[in-house]
Amino acid sequence: MAEPSQGQLDTVMQERRVFPPSEEFAQRARIGSPAAYEELYARAKTDPASFWAELARAELHWFEPFRTALEWKEPFARWFVGGTTNVSYNCLDIHLEGPRRNKAALIWEGEPGDQRTLTYQQLHREVCLFANVLKNLGVKRGDVVSIYMPMVPELAIAMLACARIGAIHSVIFAGFSSEAIADRNNDAQAKVQLTADGGWRRGKILPLKETVDAALEKSPSVQKCVVLRRVGDVQEVSMREGRDYWWDELTAQAEAECPAEPLDSETPLFILYTSGSTGKPKGIMHTSAGYNLFAKKTFEWVFDRREEDVFWCTADCGWITGHSYIVYGPRSAGATAPMHEGAPNWPAEDRFWELVEKHRVNVLYTAPTAIRAFIKWGDHHVEKHDLSSLRLLGTVGEGINPEAWMWYHHKIGGGRCPIVDTWWQTETGGIMMSPLPGAIPTKPGSCTKPLPGVLPRIVDEEGREVDPNHGGWLVMAHPWPGMLRGIWGDEERFREVYWSKVPGHYLAGDNARRDSDGYYWIMGRIDDVINVSGHRLSTIEVESALVSHPNVAEAAAVGRPDELKGQAISVFVTLRNAEPNDALRDALRAHARQEIGALAVPDDIRFAAVLPKTRSGKIMRRLLRDIAAGKEAVGQDTTTLEDFSVLAALRSDEES
Ligand code: PRX
Repeated sequence: MAEPSQGQLDTVMQERRVFPPSEEFAQRARIGSPAAYEELYARAKTDPASFWAELARAELHWFEPFRTALEWKEPFARWFVGGTTNVSYNCLDIHLEGPRRNKAALIWEGEPGDQRTLTYQQLHREVCLFANVLKNLGVKRGDVVSIYMPMVPELAIAMLACARIGAIHSVIFAGFSSEAIADRNNDAQAKVQLTADGGWRRGKILPLKETVDAALEKSPSVQKCVVLRRVGDVQEVSMREGRDYWWDELTAQAEAECPAEPLDSETPLFILYTSGSTGKPKGIMHTSAGYNLFAKKTFEWVFDRREEDVFWCTADCGWITGHSYIVYGPRSAGATAPMHEGAPNWPAEDRFWELVEKHRVNVLYTAPTAIRAFIKWGDHHVEKHDLSSLRLLGTVGEGINPEAWMWYHHKIGGGRCPIVDTWWQTETGGIMMSPLPGAIPTKPGSCTKPLPGVLPRIVDEEGREVDPNHGGWLVMAHPWPGMLRGIWGDEERFREVYWSKVPGHYLAGDNARRDSDGYYWIMGRIDDVINVSGHRLSTIEVESALVSHPNVAEAAAVGRPDELKGQAISVFVTLRNAEPNDALRDALRAHARQEIGALAVPDDIRFAAVLPKTRSGKIMRRLLRDIAAGKEAVGQDTTTLEDFSVLAALRSDEES
C-alpha cells in the first residue's frame, strides 16, 4: 500500500493560516463556538448509540418506534432496530402540514433554458404518481430499479418514489457506457430501467435511450423500461413493444394517492456503484433510517441550515453527493435546493454565477476541480455577477489545494463566507469530517474535525494509533448510522476491504494525518484508486478495459498530478499484432470510453516494449507513477516504443 509522499507531507506541514468565522456568522450559527462543538462532540463520544437514538426519535417520523439503537456484530450494523419508517415520508409528507407545504423544494435549471419549480406539495404529488407507476409495472418491495437519467426533476422524483414503496434504486451516472450499465444491472439483478430519450450537455444531446438499448441487450433481468421525453423531436428513439413505455403515458394513467409504506429501519434504500481496488465496481448498499438520519443531521450541521436558505449542491445525482445533498439531506430538512442540468461552462463560463445571482443562492457546495476550472476561465466571469447572497461555501470529492481555497474564499465568498471542506465517501453515506462553520476556524486544505458521533483514528499497519503529525491509515472506531451495510451480493469482499486490516475498525482507504491542533489532513488513497475530477476510478478498471482490446497485450494505468482534474489517467501499454501509432492511440481511447465511459478515457497513452516489473513479476507502479509525472526521464517520442528496462533494473530492489 502506498505511503504518503514527502511532497504531500510538506504541503500539509507548510499550511499554517487559520480563518475563524466572522462574529456575525458565529452568532447566528446553529453551533456557534468551539466550546459548543466540543460539548456536543464529547456528549456523542461517551455513548454514540444513545446520542444517535435521541436524534432519531426527534428527527424522523416513526410508524413503529424502534426498540434498540444499535446492534453491532462486526461488520454488520443494524440501527434503530424494530422501528418502521419511510424515507420518502420523512422527505415529503412531514412538511405538508405546516408552512413548508408551499415552499419551493426543488428549483430546476435545465440546459436549454428550461426551468421548473416544485413546491413540497407538488413534489409529493409527483412522487406519489410515479410510485404508483412503479407499482403498476409490478415493482415490489426489495426490487431493484436502475436509473440512467439526466439531471432533471424526474430523477429525484424516481428516487423518492422507489423509497416510498420499498424498492431499491441503483442510479448510474449518465456518462457511463452501455457496458458499464449492463454490468451494474446484472450485478444488482435490476428489474426495471428508467431513462430518458436524451439529455442535454453543452448544447448537444446525449443519446441515453440508445445507450440503454445496448445495455438491455445484455441485462436479462430487466423486464421493463420507462422513458422520459426530455429532448422530444430532436432525438429519434426506438421503443420496444412490451418492454418500453413512455413516462408521461404511464403517469397519466396512475392514481395520485400513494401512502408511504411503513418499512423496517434496515430496509435497503439504494445501491450505488463505486470503484474499488479491483476491476469490478462495488455495489455500496445503504439502508433506510440510519442513512436518512445521517443525511439530514450532517446537512443541518455542516451547512448551518436556515429555513430561508437556498442551498445549491452542484453535483450530479449519479454520485453519492447528489444522493445525500441534493435529494435526501435537503429534502428531509425541508430545504430549498436547486438542481442543475448541464456543464458549468455552458452557455458560458459564468453559468454558476449567473444562477447564484438569479436564485440568490446562500450556500454553495461544489468540487475543487470545478474551482480550479473557474480560476483558469478568469475572474471576469465572476465579477460580472452579484454574489452577495452567499454566506457559506463548501467543497467535496478531493482535497483542495490552498491556492484554490484562497481564490474561492476571496473571489466567490468575498472574504466573508466560511469554507467547509467536507471529507466523506460513497460508503459513509454522509459527511464525516468537516468544519462546523460557526464553530471551527478553518485551515486551507484541512477537513478539520470529525462531526459529532464520528470517531476517527489514524493508525499504523499494526493498528496502533500514530502520534500527531504522523501519517497513517484513517479508520473509524465506532459504527455511525449512515455507514454502508454491505457490498451488494458480496459479503466476503465487504469484510475483506473494510474490516480485515484493522480489527474492530472501518478502514476508509485514505491516508491521513492529525496535526497538533487535532485537525485532520487527508493525504490520498492507500489503494489503486485514483481521483479524477473528484470521481473515483480504479486503475485496474481502466487496465481491464484496455486489455479487452485485441491489440493490447498488457496495460498499466497510474494517476499523475493534473492541475485541473487533481489526477489524470496515464496508461502504459504493450501491444500485440500492432504497431504503435496515433490512430491506435485514438482507438484505445475510444475503446475505454465504450467499455466504461467518458470519465475513464486516458489522458495519455504510452506504448512500451515491455512493462517494468519486479523480480516477483509485479508491475512497478511507483516507477510508472514517477515517469507519468515527469520525474523520471525516458525517451519522450511517445509514438515509438519506450524501453523502461534500464530504469526498471535500477529500481527493482526498491519496489520488490
Ligand atoms: O480519497 C477520498 C476523496 O474521495 C474519496 C471518496 O470518493 P467517493 O466515494 O467517490 O465520494 C466522493 C464524495 C463524497 C475519499 O476516500 N475525498 C472525498 N472528499 C475529500 C477527499 N479527499 C480529500 N478531501 C476531501 N474533502
